[in-house]
Amino acid sequence: MTGKGTAVHNVTLNNGVEMPILGFGVYQVPPEETEKVVTDALAAGFRSIDTAAAYGNEEAVGRAIRGIPRDELFITTKLWVQDNPAEENTRRAFDTSLRKLGLDHVDLYLIHQPYRDVHGQWRAMQDIHRQGLARAIGVSNFHPDRLVDLIEHYDIVPAVNQIETHPFYQRTADQDLMRDRGVQIESWGPFAEGKNDLFTHPVLSEIGDAHDKSVAQVVLRWLIQRDVVVIPKSVRADRMAENLDVFDFALTDDQMARIAALDTGASQFFDHRDPGMTVQLGNHRLTD
Ligand SMILES: NC(=O)c1ccc[n+]([C@@H]2O[C@H](COP(=O)([O-])OP(=O)(O)OC[C@H]3O[C@@H](n4cnc5c(N)ncnc54)[C@H](OP(=O)(O)O)[C@@H]3O)[C@@H](O)[C@H]2O)c1
Repeated sequence: MTGKGTAVHNVTLNNGVEMPILGFGVYQVPPEETEKVVTDALAAGFRSIDTAAAYGNEEAVGRAIRGIPRDELFITTKLWVQDNPAEENTRRAFDTSLRKLGLDHVDLYLIHQPYRDVHGQWRAMQDIHRQGLARAIGVSNFHPDRLVDLIEHYDIVPAVNQIETHPFYQRTADQDLMRDRGVQIESWGPFAEGKNDLFTHPVLSEIGDAHDKSVAQVVLRWLIQRDVVVIPKSVRADRMAENLDVFDFALTDDQMARIAALDTGASQFFDHRDPGMTVQLGNHRLTD
């Protein structure tokens, strides 16, 4: 994998599977734009792509990755919460995702939200993994209590937990627990989608100036130095190249500490433990 500077390196998941520490996310990329956006991202050098059934753009991702050698790619998709029985519906949802992506296996399959019968979902995902259809399985948006509940009661420990992680919500305690339990932390929203004026934040800007790097590059570098997998999204080719160009500099301990001081300990979006969200997301249905 190449970007300007040096190559994207991998992390090793708890089952030995290698995952690029830097990938590309396609949340909120409209389906009709996704094929071009992912084609541009692949041309820039990204090989890890993060999509989800709920994003509605798996088919377009599938069209864009056709022609790239399968063993160069790392494709993640996510299971939307399903009707009961969860086991049956998980398998059906997975087969739909595979068909839309045009693949015979995915690299990582995640439970998207910690709602409904996640135990039934996890049992089905273990079977999917054992059949070789997902090289690794994991979860997303799980707070530590929910994560440990799965770890304690099933054979397979989630390989990844993809959670909101950025300078204003740093998740260091979550990461410590995950490290102890063998779960790789993956950041979604590394830029907090620009909330809280992230891209013009004075501390981040000053650190960027010191390295002749942008705020976006500082944030990605800070996460990578914390061993957090990142999947920034951009529809712009210039920003894709910028977001890949983060392996030719290092933040100092002092700079890492200054960014650590920006943590608010709270989401910039919503709390997955809010019962209102449990109702809203738990009842949201995909059409197919
Ligand atoms: N599991 C979950 O529940 C969940 C939730 C949210 C996201 N995700 C995943 O995480 C990925 C990333 O999160 P996200 O898309 O929510 O937000 P994000 O990556 O934090 O931010 C994306 C925003 O930053 C802008 N941007 C990107 N690179 C930039 C740069 N170098 N300079 C200035 N602006 C830049 C983009 O604008 P342009 O596109 O206009 O460049 C876009 O508005 C998603 O795409 C998805 O794959 C997962």
